[in-house]
Amino acid sequence: MIAAGGMSGILNCLLAMVEPGDEVIVTDPIYAGIINRILLAGGIPKYVPLIPSTNGWQLDLQALKNGVSPQTKMVVISPGMPTGHILTQAEWEAVAHVCIENDLWLLYDAAMERILYDGRQVIHPASFPQMRERTITVGAASKEFRMIGWRIGWIVGPKEIMNDVGLVSIANVVCQVGISMPGVAAALNAEDDGLKAAIETWEERRNLLLRELQGLPVIPPHGGWSFLLDASQLGLTAPELTTKLFQHAKIATTPMVGWGERAANNVRLVFSNEPKERLIGIGGKVRKALGL
Ligand SMILES: Cc1ncc(COP(=O)(O)O)c(C=O)c1O
Repeated sequence: MIAAGGMSGILNCLLAMVEPGDEVIVTDPIYAGIINRILLAGGIPKYVPLIPSTNGWQLDLQALKNGVSPQTKMVVISPGMPTGHILTQAEWEAVAHVCIENDLWLLYDAAMERILYDGRQVIHPASFPQMRERTITVGAASKEFRMIGWRIGWIVGPKEIMNDVGLVSIANVVCQVGISMPGVAAALNAEDDGLKAAIETWEERRNLLLRELQGLPVIPPHGGWSFLLDASQLGLTAPELTTKLFQHAKIATTPMVGWGERAANNVRLVFSNEPKERLIGIGGKVRKALGL
């Protein structure tokens, strides 16, 4: 089913599947737009921490197990955003186990699934035994095809739920963006969609940023195009750090307030649109702004 972008697809799935008071398990941090859509659908987000380390983020598997209650309806997994966390095979197995054991849906946000670094490969949750029948995948042209404003996404899921998702979609967006559909079809069918080259560029930027910011409380991203800097380890709140970086170094960051519970200690740096030339020297600017 075609959607008016990935997030519209996610909202339609949530509206079709979540009843008021249902609990929805999400990672912490997670994109604020997903949290807000769960709330719009009447759901209650239940946060499972991503644990930071110098090697990257890890899903707290014990918290995932403990997070399930009789009210839990679904797990939402959205790799890449905002942390750069990419689930390992073992993490996906744990998610699959929890979904199967507790008869939960898995809503999989695949918008960034191919934006992977260091040779990582896509692992699709529906490929695990007994998961195909409980996984709804929402894809988007926005990120991998760099077509954010075109408002095209897609929803793939088991027949039993797609009828409801379709009814919500008609009640919500009516029809999709006609002029965009052939454009996205061309990207989908292109021999070279340009993603490989884009990933090489983003990976270079990521590596440069990690070198520039070495020694600061940064968690390296394994995919996606953003990563977090822990303000609390610098003795600041996230809004304070954002203000400092903006006023003293002209660097725009997002405070992660509203992106989870523990997430609120962090600010997000995005490198999707920053040429290397603009990133060179950013480490010095950040240190100067912080008086380090
Ligand atoms: C986590 C996440 N998933 C999916 C999307 C894709 O949404 P859309 O196609 O509506 O831009 C976005 C875009 O911001 C996003 O941040």
